[in-house]
Amino acid sequence: MSPTEPSGAAHGAQGEPPDGPATLNLRLRVWRQDGPEAPGRFETYEAAGISPDASFLEMLDVLNERLTLDGQEPIVFESDCREGICGTCGLMIDGRAHGPQKGTATCQLHMRQFSDGDLITVEPWRAGAFEVIRDLAVDRTALDEIIAAGGYISVNVGAAPDANLVAVPKEAAECAFDAAACIGCGACVAACPNSAAQLFTAAKVQHLNLLPQGQPERWARTEAMVETMEQFFGSCTNHGECEEACPKEISIDFIAWTNRDYVRAKLKNRKLAGQS
Ligand code: SF4
Ligand code: FES
Repeated sequence: MSPTEPSGAAHGAQGEPPDGPATLNLRLRVWRQDGPEAPGRFETYEAAGISPDASFLEMLDVLNERLTLDGQEPIVFESDCREGICGTCGLMIDGRAHGPQKGTATCQLHMRQFSDGDLITVEPWRAGAFEVIRDLAVDRTALDEIIAAGGYISVNVGAAPDANLVAVPKEAAECAFDAAACIGCGACVAACPNSAAQLFTAAKVQHLNLLPQGQPERWARTEAMVETMEQFFGSCTNHGECEEACPKEISIDFIAWTNRDYVRAKLKNRKLAGQS
């Protein structure tokens, strides 16, 4: 699809005129930064004639095409799937992680959420652990470090057909599924006043801890992932901004369950260490 072709459906029912303006004339105040060490600054751009059915990233594509044709440096931002599943996109839009629409990743936010004439401020995730690479792109390696510490199952759980032999209680399966919806975007960190990564870590811990296959490594996983998180990120003080910003609406209940598992992990791991 060409970046100038909007991905969303047309306004109004088929055959009816659209109920908003045919196009939007916007101004964008965008964070520009040439590299991690360079000082950043806001620059303002006109974005005229934007379709309300364009996604936010398609709108940036259009702006970048115009900047390129004008001999200017395009704005660097990250994206991949553009359908809310990979977690690559992530922008602070008017001070809100992923923008004004709840439960929506930046790539699925459409320009119909804005009004003609709006001035929209676009920034990268702001967190000590997420260094700005360039413009709106940040380094989220710290989240990968948490996964590398234990966000996997390494015990032999058999081949695919064996999966059906392990009964999983329905409630546990549904909770694990809810936690597994985390796309690792980092919006929870960006929205948190403490730059804590508790919601991400809790989702990644619990989607494995809730399943039978996750039990053999449950306590080692919990301790390792929580303590790796603490090396990079701030502490959770229960603001709840993470849940509000999360495009997958991951519940902060997972944080409570992970805190409980962490206390148990410290006791169990110490006991196991004493036995060995
Ligand atoms: S918990 Fe939500 S906001 Fe945090 S990384 Fe996962 S999907 Fe993104
Ligand atoms: S680009 Fe994949 S979730 Fe937005």
